[in-house]
Formats: sequence, C-alpha cells, structure tokens
Amino acid sequence: MIPVKTEEEIELLREPCRIVKECLAFVGEHIRAGMTTKEVDDLVYRFIKAEGAEPSCLGYYGYPASACVSVNEVVVHGIPDGRVICEGDIVSVDLCAYKNGFHGDGARTFCIGEVSEEKKKLVRVTEECFFKGIEGLKAGTPLYDIGYRVQKHAESNGFSVIRAYTGHGIGREMHEDPAVLNYGRKGTGVRLPANAVICIEPMIAAGNWRVQVQDDGWTAVTTDGKPAAHYENTVVIRENGVEILTL
Ligand code: MF3
Ligand code: CO
Repeated sequence: MIPVKTEEEIELLREPCRIVKECLAFVGEHIRAGMTTKEVDDLVYRFIKAEGAEPSCLGYYGYPASACVSVNEVVVHGIPDGRVICEGDIVSVDLCAYKNGFHGDGARTFCIGEVSEEKKKLVRVTEECFFKGIEGLKAGTPLYDIGYRVQKHAESNGFSVIRAYTGHGIGREMHEDPAVLNYGRKGTGVRLPANAVICIEPMIAAGNWRVQVQDDGWTAVTTDGKPAAHYENTVVIRENGVEILTL
C-alpha cells in the first residue's frame, strides 16, 4: 500500500517544501568557485534554521551535515568538507527541511562558471529527465512509467541512469514507500493513488552507471570517474496531474 496524505497534511507539507525550494535558490545565488563544500553546507544550515525548520539530513543514520554536496564524479551523498569548488565543476546540492511534522526534499545541480559542453548537456538532460518523468503522471499511472520515461530520455542522450539510488515517498518520514526507480518497464508497477507524495530524483551519469561508496560510508562516486548530475523535487499525485511543491 502506498501511503496517501489528507489535504490537511498536504497543507502542512507545503511549508518545509517551500523552504527547500528557497534554500536551493539561495544556494544557487551564492555558490561560486573558491568556496568549500563545507561553506555551502553552512549556508544551508543557517538558511533552514532561520526559517524555523530543521535540516532533516543532519544526524540521519549518522549523516554529519545538513546538505549533500556532490562535485563532478560524486553522484550523491557527498559529505561537505574542505574540498574547494572550482570553475568548471558541476555541484549537486541535495537538502531536506523538517517543519510542521513533515519533510520536504529537493536537489539541483549547479554549473560553476564555464563548464564543458558534456557537463552542460548532462545537467540539462538530468533536469529534463525529471520533467519527462512527470509527463502524463496522475492518479492511476503505473509507478514504473516514471522510471521508463527518465531512462528513455537519459539513454537517448547517450547518458546512463544510476541504479543504486532511487526516489521515494515522503511525509512524516524522509523516506517512505514507494521506491521511485529511475529506470523500468512501461505499464508496470503499482498504480499511484491520488494524494501520494513522492520525490522524483533522477541521478544521471555521463559514463557508466556503476557507483562505489567511499570509506566514509556515504560519498558515492562513479567507478569510471565521469561526472554525474542530480535533480529532485517533491510532488503530490493528483487526479489530473501533479503538483510540484519544491519548484
Ligand atoms: N535528500 C536525500 C534524498 O534525496 C537523502 C540524503 S541521505 C542523508 O533522499 F543522509 F543525507 F540524509
Ligand atoms: Co530524496
């Protein structure tokens, strides 16, 4: 059974999602070459706290920061540290805010200054994958149609879909059912009910989809060292479409 929310619960969810959206925009305005990934995390921590919310990631299964800041070959869960962000990097920032008893979740990948044509295309296609994923999405859509659309768009552009991580339901917990895969067969999977709230988060690699988790237990890097990008929003499934809460 896929959890669904009442209208009252969805009203409560709007606030943490708004904070995520605004925090991501704030990071986009301030991130630049010369900053460390830790400095990006500090911006996120202070922004979320100033909104009277909590950074959901901090302490989640021992995760030591408020945001995941993943540079180039780091796919997801990059732990902010002293790594200096450079011109030409792509930096994925993934963050969650908790307020009103609910979590909001979103991610963007930022281009730092002039980046290569390949990286530019990767970031654009990853974002497009999200929008392909929600095309035609509404109550009754088979769950794996999302992954089917994401995969089709990524692969037709010469990129690959990261398999080791997925999107997820969200609500009073940061991760709820169902797992939202970024690949799959059209017309399969459970039919999504109205008022299900899910995070759709394509993670797309320029090269191979294989990843390896580093010794810190979190930082996931591509095994071929090629760059990857990430884009995520929290969405509500409605009778006639979707409502995107973090955009
Ligand atoms: N925000 C991530 C997601 O999209 C979760 C990050 S794991 C954490 O699901 F440990 F950093 F919280
Ligand atoms: Co998520």
